[in-house]
Amino acid sequence: MKNYFIELENCINLKRLEELRISVLGKKGELAKEFANMKNLEPSQRKDVAKELNKIKQEFAKKLEEKRLELEEKAVEDGMLNEKIDISLINGKLELGGYHPVVETMNRIIDYFQKMNFSVEEGRMVEDDFHNFEALNLPKHHPARDMQDTFYFADHHLLRTHTSPVQIRTMEREKPPIRMIAPGTVFRRDFDLTHTPMFHQVEGLVIENGKKVSFANLKFILQDFLHHMFGEVEVRFRPSFFPFTEPSAEVDISCVFCEGDGCRVCSHTGWLEVLGCGMVDENVLKAVQYEDVSGYAFGLGVERFAMLIHRIPDLRSLFEGDLRLLEQFQR
Ligand code: DAH
Repeated sequence: MKNYFIELENCINLKRLEELRISVLGKKGELAKEFANMKNLEPSQRKDVAKELNKIKQEFAKKLEEKRLELEEKAVEDGMLNEKIDISLINGKLELGGYHPVVETMNRIIDYFQKMNFSVEEGRMVEDDFHNFEALNLPKHHPARDMQDTFYFADHHLLRTHTSPVQIRTMEREKPPIRMIAPGTVFRRDFDLTHTPMFHQVEGLVIENGKKVSFANLKFILQDFLHHMFGEVEVRFRPSFFPFTEPSAEVDISCVFCEGDGCRVCSHTGWLEVLGCGMVDENVLKAVQYEDVSGYAFGLGVERFAMLIHRIPDLRSLFEGDLRLLEQFQR
C-alpha cells in the first residue's frame, strides 16, 4: 500500500489519478483484496485488521480527493494559458473577398468558350511588328501603327495593341484544326472617358481544313455566346471592315439600358456594339503558310462587357480600385 500512497503523491494528471483510484478503491482493487483475505484470519484478529484497513481506505480516499482538486485546478489554469486570447487580433466580421468585375467577366467568357471546346492561348505582351501588324494584313501605312496609338520600345518591339497576334503565334506553332481563344492585356496610347492605356481583350480563332467553316458557324456561336453573357437581347451583324478578316462584321446587341428604345448610352440608336469578327483573310493565312483551310475570327473588349453587364457608367472607375465600387461585386 505504501507504494500507492507515493504514487498518489506524485501523480500529475487526472487520468492517472482515476486509474489509481480504481486499482486501490475499486471493486477488484487492492483494498478489496485485503478485505477478502480477512476470511483466512483468526476471528480474533479480524476486528483489528478491519479497523486498520478502513483507516487506510479513508486516508487514501481523502488524499485522492485532495489530489483531484489540485489537478483539476491545474488543468483549468493550463487551459487558460494555452487558449490565451490574442486581443491584438481584429475582432470584426470576416470579410469575404470578390473578383474584380473585369476578372469575373473574363472568367465567364473563358468558361463559355472552354465548354465549347476552345483552347485558351496566352501569347506575349511584348510583340514584334510582324505578329502585331504585318501578318495580320495591317499594311505599313495603317493608322494603327502610328506612334499616337502604339507604345514602341527602342528595339522595334512594342506592347501589343490587340490580342490578334496570338492568332498568328498559334497558327505558326500548330497545324489545323485550331479552335482557340486568347484572353489578355493589351495597350494603347489612349486615355479619356472611354479609353484607358491598358485594357483587356478576348480573341477567338477557328480554323478547319478545307471549306468546312462558314459565316453561319461564326454567326451561330457568337449569337449563343452573347445570349450567354447578356441574356435575352437582340443580336445583329453589321457589315464592317478589319484588315485581318474578309468579309468582316461588327456585332451589336439591343441596348441593355433602354432595351432598344434609344437612350444616351446607345446614342439613341437602340444598339450597342460589342464585337468585331469575320472570316479569316487570305493574306493572314498566307502569312502563316496555311493552304486549303477556312476559318473565322473575332475579338472583344472585356471592360466594355463588364460595364454593360454591371451597368458601370465610367470605364475609368474599373481601374481606380475604389473599394466602395468593388465591394458591390462581393460574392
Ligand atoms: N483586333 C481588333 C481590335 O483590337 C478586334 C477584332 C476584330 C479581332 C475583328 C478579330 C476580328 O479577330 O475578326 O479592335
